[in-house]
Order: sequence, then structure tokens, then C-alpha cells
Amino acid sequence: MIIVAPSILSANFTRLGQDIDQVKTAGADWLHIDIMDGHFVPNLTIGPQVVADIRKVTDLFLDVHLMIEKPENFVGAFAEAGADLITVHAEASNHLNRLVNQIKQTGCKAGVSLNPATPAMLLEDIIADVDLILLMTVNPGFGGQSFIPSVLPKIKVVKQMLERQNAAAYLEVDGGINNLNAPEVVRAGANVLVAGSYIFGNPDPTGAVYALKNSI
Ligand code: DX5
Ligand code: ZN
Repeated sequence: MIIVAPSILSANFTRLGQDIDQVKTAGADWLHIDIMDGHFVPNLTIGPQVVADIRKVTDLFLDVHLMIEKPENFVGAFAEAGADLITVHAEASNHLNRLVNQIKQTGCKAGVSLNPATPAMLLEDIIADVDLILLMTVNPGFGGQSFIPSVLPKIKVVKQMLERQNAAAYLEVDGGINNLNAPEVVRAGANVLVAGSYIFGNPDPTGAVYALKNSI
């Protein structure tokens, strides 16, 4: 079964608790939380305090996506706030192996992400050590952008890399995912689908989650 991780970037932050309850009732498995610093990406979102508050109101698996420079400075704070998994960008670190170990030492699962134009080969020497690979299917920074179809071959390459190295990491995609492109990304090898605007902007969130979970 496909794991669906609604991105709260498209939720209404004045009623975040209710929006989280709604996607949980709709059948979501994880909650995807986008952390942006205005440097690594041209937008700002939230910090560890909001993650800690979310932790208090839900038992959903918290999938924290750090789109920040110097992620090593914040891994501890997000782990303490209650993240279950922390994903960092390969582009944001000169010492990815050290950073992944730092995440694991907090007790969290560790993920590594690539922007659309970053080649899959960067994962070759880290893929066996992580719990999740996140392939961005938009340029990170904003919700509601269009899926970039040229990432599809990279999903296949990473899936093959996982198989070749007998690695068990989840393969997550993030950006512009909806009912129309979900079957393609799943066929290419993705097994975790992040979706923000498609779920939170949908008049029928339950139907939206169901459509993504069952996309084959
Ligand atoms: C983009 C974020 C995504 C975003 C996805 O930088 O990483 O998680 O919320 O939103 P949609 O599904 O609307 O593209
Ligand atoms: Zn994200």
C-alpha cells in the first residue's frame, strides 16, 4: 500500500489542529511538515515550536522536511520537538554522512532529499544508510506548483539503485502530486506520496487520500 503524507503547507494555520484531524480521518498515514528558512529556499515557514505543538495533538508519523541551510544546527531541536523522521537536502550539506548519523543518533529516522536538477548519482554512497529518499518533483519553496515530469526517470534510477544495493529506504516524492500523476510516480517506484494542495485544497479530502493510496 502507498503511504500518503499530506503537507501542512497547504493547511489553514489558524485551524491547524482541525485540518490535521481531518486528514487523519481521511486516512492519511504520515504528516509532512515543510521547514523553510528563506535562504535554502525563497520562503519562510515554521520552526520547532510548531512541530512540538503538532506533536501534542496527533499521533500521526511526523515527516519533517528541512529546506534550510546548515541543517545540522536544527536537527536536535526538531528531534526534541517530536519528529519521527527528519529529511535533509544533499545540496545543503558538505558532510552528508555525518549529518545522517547525527539524525539517527537522535533516535529519528533519516531521509535525504534531492532537488529536481540534482543527479541521482549523489545518492550512490548514502542510499544504504538512510530510511528514506525524497525526490522533489517541483523546485522546493512553495505549495501548489506543477509536477515536473522530467523527474520520472530519476525515480526509476533511484528505485534501481535501491534494488541493486538491497536497500530498504522508502522512496518519497514531493511537489505537484495529484490523482493524475500519482500512478506514474508509483509505477516508477515511489511508495510515499506527499501532497499539499491536492489534499487540503480538495472539497473531498477523504476521496483525495483514497485516490493517492490506491494509485497503481
Ligand atoms: C514544496 C514542499 C512541498 C509542498 C507540496 O517545497 O516541499 O511539501 O508542500 O505542495 P503541493 O503538493 O501543493 O505541491
Ligand atoms: Zn516537502
